[in-house]
Amino acid sequence: MAKYKIAWLPGDGIGIEVLEAAKIVLDKTGLDAEYIHGDIGWEFWRTEGDAFPARTIELLKNVDAAMFGAITSKPKKDSEAELIPELQGKGLIYRSPIVRMRQMFDLYNCLRPAKGYKGNALNYKDNIDLVVFRENTEDLYCGVEFAPVPQEVADVLAKHSKPFSVFAGLGADDYAINCKINTKKGSEKIIRAAFDFARQNNRKKVTIIHKANVVRATDGLFFDVAKEVKKDFPEIQMDDANIDAITMWLLKNPHNYDVLVATNLFGDIISDLCAQMVGGLGFGCSGNIGKKLAVFEPTHGSAPKYFGQYKVNPIATILAAKMMLEWLGETELAVKVESAVARIIEEGKFKTYDMGGDTKTLEMAEEIAAYI
Ligand code: NAI
Ligand code: MG
Repeated sequence: MAKYKIAWLPGDGIGIEVLEAAKIVLDKTGLDAEYIHGDIGWEFWRTEGDAFPARTIELLKNVDAAMFGAITSKPKKDSEAELIPELQGKGLIYRSPIVRMRQMFDLYNCLRPAKGYKGNALNYKDNIDLVVFRENTEDLYCGVEFAPVPQEVADVLAKHSKPFSVFAGLGADDYAINCKINTKKGSEKIIRAAFDFARQNNRKKVTIIHKANVVRATDGLFFDVAKEVKKDFPEIQMDDANIDAITMWLLKNPHNYDVLVATNLFGDIISDLCAQMVGGLGFGCSGNIGKKLAVFEPTHGSAPKYFGQYKVNPIATILAAKMMLEWLGETELAVKVESAVARIIEEGKFKTYDMGGDTKTLEMAEEIAAYI
């Protein structure tokens, strides 16, 4: 029996291609693992009415970790229109499988490192090395949303938000509501994860990202929790910034930042910005980490316009595989993978289209594997 069981979830579009590439590299490391395919994505929504079928959920209960490619998702009306005729009109509602997976398995920590490798012409500035901790289960992604708005919800709002009357007298279809819910427990878990990481990796500073001046209830809570957690980490500095201001400061002085921690939506935004500073989506890797399970993925989507061409950059996914090796405790193998990636980038002989070259996805993976 293999030492590890890894769920293998390619999903849609280029997710399939980049996972094929990551497998070439993982195989080369000699990791003693069994890789078990799991169905996920648009095709299963269309034909089964569920993009994250029960059999895949079962699979995830019985593995050590998972690698996930990407999925396609579409707005509400398009999703329903694309269901096979037998499933139309049954009131099926599409919910993002990755969001469900994060909530179902309490993968509360979305870890997104953004490291600029030497010699990458796409680096925004030299020596950028940021790590974003994004809360992964709550906030505007909690799925508490209303469109149309039921009368009982409208009544509660009318009672509890008197000064704000923009929606008074509107019909149920004339507005929509998404609830931003942040808990003390969820906030503490992600903030503590960021500080723990800073301590273990000799990082100097944790920056708390919020909008507590305007979004006072939820972001005020997040910031207050951060001040409490900080007391347990006297050797780590803490500062904070509003979400809007941090986008500006990060661009101006990326070297002033180190570890960043944010609620779900703000973390999503900030991690794309950070990924772009180190080469773009072709380099953005991430882990969705819980206590028992962790799912690793590139941050990019299924990029339908490139699907089938095997030309996208597999480095984001190969770095996600490296994160998985770290999480499994296979530190030596992780270092080998990262060194091979760094060497390929620095030598500049092989470049995918986004890097200005014409190396294909699997060729890039083969070349990286050759350096392991
Ligand atoms: P996307 O990330 O799929 O692609 C946007 C653009 O980024 C591409 O057209 C391409 O120019 C570039 N890009 C992405 N990955 C790249 C790679 N590995 N190498 C080089 N260039 C790369 O985002 P888009 O087009 O907004 O969404 C497409 C679909 O993916 C949608 O259905 C969306 O909902 C879904 N999506 C899924 C995600 C996930 O599975 N975690 C995340 C983001 C989007
Ligand atoms: Mg995103």
